[in-house]
Amino acid sequence: MSLAPFYRGKVRDLYAVNDSSFIVVATDRLSAFDVVFPDPIPGKGKILTNVSNLWFQALRLSGLHQRFNFTDHILETNVMRFPDGFQNPDWAGRAVLVKKCKRIDFECVVRGYLAGSAYKEYLAKGTACGIELPAGLKQASRLPEAIFTPATKAETGHDENIPFAQMQAALGPLADRLRDISLAIFHFASEEMKRAGILLCDTKFEFGLIGESIVLIDEALTPDSSRYWDARTYAEGTSPAGFDKQFVRDFVESIGWNKEPPAPGLPGEIIEKTIALYSEIEGLIKATLRL
Ligand SMILES: Nc1ncnc2c1ncn2[C@@H]1O[C@H](COP(=O)(O)OP(=O)(O)O)[C@@H](O)[C@H]1O
Ligand SMILES: [Mg+2]
Repeated sequence: MSLAPFYRGKVRDLYAVNDSSFIVVATDRLSAFDVVFPDPIPGKGKILTNVSNLWFQALRLSGLHQRFNFTDHILETNVMRFPDGFQNPDWAGRAVLVKKCKRIDFECVVRGYLAGSAYKEYLAKGTACGIELPAGLKQASRLPEAIFTPATKAETGHDENIPFAQMQAALGPLADRLRDISLAIFHFASEEMKRAGILLCDTKFEFGLIGESIVLIDEALTPDSSRYWDARTYAEGTSPAGFDKQFVRDFVESIGWNKEPPAPGLPGEIIEKTIALYSEIEGLIKATLRL
């Protein structure tokens, strides 16, 4: 079977099907700081697909779709039930057939703890995406309440954190709806993971529109889009042990990479460790959601 993608994202390849749907294939590519690394992480694409599918299903059962009036983009997760000509066995477990949406070009980020770019901004200005935060917070401090900190979805280069007012100016009342949905999903997922002894630090959602209807697209609550922390080793003032790319981020910062392409090669042990962490969090999510 030889099909060519019509679009290659940093991690996912998209294959055209018809006017209303396409196929998303999660590859084993790893990106950090918006740059793709030369070495694949074997099995990562399947883990991302499974984790997203588990959360999409949990959200469907949670009642949040009805309460907040949105859906997700999934049409089919079983490759063998894809349309004729697209039942590629190589895609099993890593591909989904989805509704084609008009993407809303903002990343809907929710943070329950202070990490990453928000921590850097807090150190410089005492704010996170323009939101005033109490004085005296440390790296990884729990925020008084979860905050919505959107970012632009840059076609090239780095995504940029923006004040919510800028998103409101661009989208009108739709911005408020996306904020409310994102916060609700974040709270739901945080509660679910608490039972597994995992803290959801932050996560990023993408949404699209079909007509006026809001659709949750791309991936959901994966270790690529989210920082999951082990509650047992969590401590304020540190970079807590995560199940995610923080390991790779810490490694490349330690070797002084300037975060501009090309990304450096990763030592075998970093690749092994990353696979182990991704599969561990997949197992914990699966066990906790009990679907
Ligand atoms: N249902 C959908 N409708 C439209 N666009 C989608 C949908 N699901 C995912 N996408 C887009 O497909 C691309 C997936 O590739 P990915 O590697 O995740 O991209 P990125 O480099 O932006 O992270 C992203 O641009 C994402 O916004
Ligand atoms: Mg993406």
